[in-house]
Amino acid sequence: MMLRPSWLGDVRAMISVRQSALCSIGMYSPAQMKCWRQAVDETELRTFIDQEDGTSICAVEEGQSIVGYACLRFGTSAHLLGLYAAAAWQRRGVGTALLLAAHAICADRNVSRVHVAASMNAAPFYAGHGYVEGNLIQWRPQGTEEGPEIPTLRMTYSFR
Ligand SMILES: CC(C)(COP(=O)(O)OP(=O)(O)OC[C@H]1O[C@@H](n2cnc3c(N)ncnc32)[C@H](O)[C@@H]1OP(=O)(O)O)[C@@H](O)C(=O)NCCC(=O)NCCS
Repeated sequence: MMLRPSWLGDVRAMISVRQSALCSIGMYSPAQMKCWRQAVDETELRTFIDQEDGTSICAVEEGQSIVGYACLRFGTSAHLLGLYAAAAWQRRGVGTALLLAAHAICADRNVSRVHVAASMNAAPFYAGHGYVEGNLIQWRPQGTEEGPEIPTLRMTYSFR
């Protein structure tokens, strides 16, 4: 497996990885998962690729298939807006490799903190990587105002 910046031609494969990753989550209701699945489309993913205030990294296996990706947006802090490993690739180090690469990009940009609205299933993963738990956020993805809220935990990684 190797990591590389995402390309515009990757977005369809990234959406597939995202759908696959979401299928592995068992702790939210079907309505919440439907809402989460619909929250991101190809247009939104494109905004992270080659943009000043955003970046995206893909994890690619030997056959060149994308097996995971991460998206970051930069402001005064960085926001990790997406981190996904395809279901068949979970617990094999893909998420860790992407997270460490995201941290390296943040360090290069002198960003001192990374925030994530961690889904409950992923909170132990982030905690294991030094993220500190903050408050509970009821997330309602844009464009799904009628849908159910999705409880997430604000978690923060500090470089110093
Ligand atoms: C969260 C996610 C990105 C982690 O990626 P991954 O490639 O499976 O993680 P890694 O293999 O690098 O895991 C490293 C360590 O993190 C911890 N960890 C990972 N997933 C975990 C989980 N679901 N529960 C508890 N601990 C977990 C474990 O300590 C693991 O080490 P181990 O496998 O030796 O026990 C991935 O599970 C995923 O895509 N989940 C669905 C989508 C999602 O929730 N994304 C996050 C949105 S905020």
